[in-house]
Amino acid sequence: RIAGPCGLVIFGVTGDLARKKLMPAVYDLASRGLLPPGFSLVGFARRDWADQDFAQVVHDAVKEHARTEFREEVWQQLAEGFRFVQGDFDDDLAFATLRQTILDLDRVRGTKGNHAFYLSIPPRYFANVIGQLKEHGLAEQQAGSWRRVVVEKPFGSNLETARELNAIVSEVFPSGSVFRIDHYLGKETVQNILAMRFANAMFEPIWNSNYVDHVQITMAEDIGIGGRAGYYDGIGAARDVIQNHLMQLMALIAMEEPTSFDARSLRIEKQKVLESVVLPRRLDLSTARAQYVEGWAGGVKVPGYKDEQDIPDDSRTETYAAIKLGIDNRRWSGVPFYLRHGKRLGRRVTEVAVVFKQAPHLPFSATATEELTHNALVIRVQPDEGITLRFGSKVPGTAMEIRDVNMDFAYGGSFTESSPEAYERLILDVLLGDPPLFPRHEEVELSWKILDPIVEYWAGHGQPDTYPAGTWGPASADAMLARDGRVWRRP
Ligand code: BG6
Repeated sequence: RIAGPCGLVIFGVTGDLARKKLMPAVYDLASRGLLPPGFSLVGFARRDWADQDFAQVVHDAVKEHARTEFREEVWQQLAEGFRFVQGDFDDDLAFATLRQTILDLDRVRGTKGNHAFYLSIPPRYFANVIGQLKEHGLAEQQAGSWRRVVVEKPFGSNLETARELNAIVSEVFPSGSVFRIDHYLGKETVQNILAMRFANAMFEPIWNSNYVDHVQITMAEDIGIGGRAGYYDGIGAARDVIQNHLMQLMALIAMEEPTSFDARSLRIEKQKVLESVVLPRRLDLSTARAQYVEGWAGGVKVPGYKDEQDIPDDSRTETYAAIKLGIDNRRWSGVPFYLRHGKRLGRRVTEVAVVFKQAPHLPFSATATEELTHNALVIRVQPDEGITLRFGSKVPGTAMEIRDVNMDFAYGGSFTESSPEAYERLILDVLLGDPPLFPRHEEVELSWKILDPIVEYWAGHGQPDTYPAGTWGPASADAMLARDGRVWRRP
């Protein structure tokens, strides 16, 4: 899978995402030999840079964040295809320059009219940029070449704004040319959910309400919001990651087997899951949200959310959210899916735990099984990538005592290949025109439809709870599970 002749244009090239993820991913692809020799990278931003300044920024970003070793010959060849276009997103002249730059690259680098436009910019600028691309004939594909647009989340902040954004994009680019990035789908372990479920015989028979008690999807981060106040405040934990990353994880865990691994079949199955989601009747009892207050992270005292830079004192934005969802179909009826995410929690970990029902009968004394809990299959998405099966085992000794043990698969122990960074995989797929790992607008809109009533309910019901930084979230989240007779896993 090597990309054919092509180039990438990044809007918002001075942003954090471009520096930490996109530029290093481009270098890593080049260094693994997956980009064509004449690949070109065009940066577009307001900054008053020359091509060399841009190249220097990419250079520094690559040195700091790339996964593969820095090799001068790879860098030299790649850097010859770097160009920078300065301008505002509504600046006609800048887009005329962009058009000319692309035509020149087609001539000198052999990119053959194949270009992807990556919008790593706040959604409020989408209309401008897409309109300009259209105006300047940049969205039009000539026979035998392609033009694609890559959109970063957030895809709106509710159903209505998501629809508006989708309308703006689809007016100019046909749906097959639109690639929405949900970088969780680019993660190795997330793709492995489908391999595990559908390449093996032993999981599927028990993957249903007869055997599964409930599912817990956890995305915990130890970091706070850092310098992202402008984006984060008013958005909050649920809209930032539950609407996209966690609902995609849920869809992959819950979906039926697709007829094949192509984009259409996957979307059909994921969409069916999202369409079957039901909210609990009592949102006060089945959701929790909270904001971190001063606490500890890695042995260092850290400020509370409201004391972070640029966060207003009266902010009600949640940095922790937990919600309970049901999936109303034959396979999952009655099985709750608990989704939770928080910033400034005890540690960084993302996992999906499928928790099984207890054995219908235990032919042991009550004391023998005192410490036995539920069997669980835990897909460790990150950072310690792997899968754990947790089940009861006899404790060695003369007495019959049964306790939980772990059977572990760790990527590091089984494979010598390293996982590519999610963005690497996704950018390559864009350049190859390979759509299975990109959510379609139907999925995006359906996930907003699920989340909107919850966020609206919160907005009308007072302040978020609080939790000290470095802990595992608010008491209200524990109480939410306790009401169902369950507990959150402590990963
Ligand atoms: C992003 C969110 O989508 O994912 C961030 O906007 C979050 O708030 C990030 O920190 C986490 O990504 P990862 O890959 O580090 O789990």
